[in-house]
Amino acid sequence: MLLGSSSSIYASLSDRAKLVPSLSSSAPFFNSVKGVRFSRRNVGYGVVAMASKEAKNQQVLDIAFEPFEEVKKELLVIPTLPHASLARQKYSDQCEAALNAQINVEYNVSYVYHAMYAYFDRDNVALKGLAKFFKESSVEERQHAEMMMEYQAFCYIIDLHFIANKRGGRVQLQTMLMPFSEFDDEEKGDALHAMELALSLERLNNEKLLNLHSVSNENNDVQLVDFLESTFLVGQVEDIKKISEYVAQLRRVGKGHGVWHFDQMLLNGDVAA
Ligand SMILES: [Fe+2]
Ligand SMILES: [Fe+2]
Repeated sequence: MLLGSSSSIYASLSDRAKLVPSLSSSAPFFNSVKGVRFSRRNVGYGVVAMASKEAKNQQVLDIAFEPFEEVKKELLVIPTLPHASLARQKYSDQCEAALNAQINVEYNVSYVYHAMYAYFDRDNVALKGLAKFFKESSVEERQHAEMMMEYQAFCYIIDLHFIANKRGGRVQLQTMLMPFSEFDDEEKGDALHAMELALSLERLNNEKLLNLHSVSNENNDVQLVDFLESTFLVGQVEDIKKISEYVAQLRRVGKGHGVWHFDQMLLNGDVAA
């Protein structure tokens, strides 16, 4: 954006990039736009550009941002119907539906982990570390679903940063199937069987997240891509790594006494994946 009179023009960062080939270069600080000469003096976030007397006003006008002209087309697309979102902008139906589908995936994984928690908390199973791990994992997956719900329709706070992504979508919760309630396995035992199932779920969840990322890319939704990359994708591979290690450890310890020690390790401080 350029503001100012014919003798003093303030350029925004984006326009400065267009106007000035290289701010760090030692080359003469003269722009290819004829007649506009820039000083090296920084003012706030912009630079001061001094127009020489021979500057052609028309050329300046050609690159000037005219807010009251340009906003006209935005005014035309602001919805007037009461049920329509005012905040929704460049948010496709496809992205909205794909995000709702992922909310369902996160809820389903949470539900299965909750069933695992109930199993390992039984009095005749009593593996308290595994019960704790799956309970925390269940809560974490539900939190993932909630973060997506908040992104869809509201705002959310993460690491004390207010993420103002009001996309104006509509959350639509979907059906969840009844999970298994028994996790014992004759060959592997319950702990390894449940952890392998957890690993499969996390890998599947990663696949679903990557599909959602592809849909966001196909729709040129940079903000949804950023949300997924910064909030979910890194954590997802960390979860997969952590549970892979648990599976490897449980394969070593067998079904008996070693499972007790593994369970104590989870009980005494390891974190949920
Ligand atoms: Fe998740
Ligand atoms: Fe997870």
